[in-house]
Amino acid sequence: MIERPFACIVQKPTGIPDRYDNHIERRLSSMTGQFRDHQAYEKLVQQSDRVIYEVYEGRRVDDQRELAHGVSIVKPGKVGDEFFMTKGHFHAVLETAELYYCIQGEGMIVMENPEGDWAAERMSAGVVLYVPPRWAHRSVNTHPHDELVVLFAYRGDAGHDYQSIERRGFRKLVVAAGERTEIVDNPRWIPLHQPA
Ligand code: F6R
Ligand code: ZN
Repeated sequence: MIERPFACIVQKPTGIPDRYDNHIERRLSSMTGQFRDHQAYEKLVQQSDRVIYEVYEGRRVDDQRELAHGVSIVKPGKVGDEFFMTKGHFHAVLETAELYYCIQGEGMIVMENPEGDWAAERMSAGVVLYVPPRWAHRSVNTHPHDELVVLFAYRGDAGHDYQSIERRGFRKLVVAAGERTEIVDNPRWIPLHQPA
């Protein structure tokens, strides 16, 4: 249990909280198979295996009374025409929700449920997004230069199921079409629940 109230400040312009317990860095090489242009992906990984997002977590307590929380920072950039993004996941306890608050930057949260319904919401400073129970979620940075900084909170014992997304990807991808951002079908996506 976290015994005492505490406050922290998300510093600007870095997006790094002035207190945190855990810092996670995810590099391009941890996203094998997720970007649709495999050649562009391999080339970029070989050129420089960049950190494409970071997470600063507060103390995580595996307890349903607590709120896991922190800040995620997705870097600007693309693999081919597809924007840098997080791995994305369902919660291991599927029936748990998450709340996002965009602090700075521009992007999109792509979501889907096990039945294959999907949704995408634009994020910019001040947007609050409620991700209902059962919906997988992924953050995508659509800005050419700025980082996407998002505060998150979810039930302490929710856990993460990364495997389902690693296996089949999200139903929708976010790509650049000139100056515009487009949501397109993921060619390798297959429904989680195939009809019998
Ligand atoms: C936590 C959550 C987010 C992500 C973060 C990194 O449940 O949804 O805070 O953890 O955006 O993304 P993943 O965890 O998909 O690598
Ligand atoms: Zn989550």
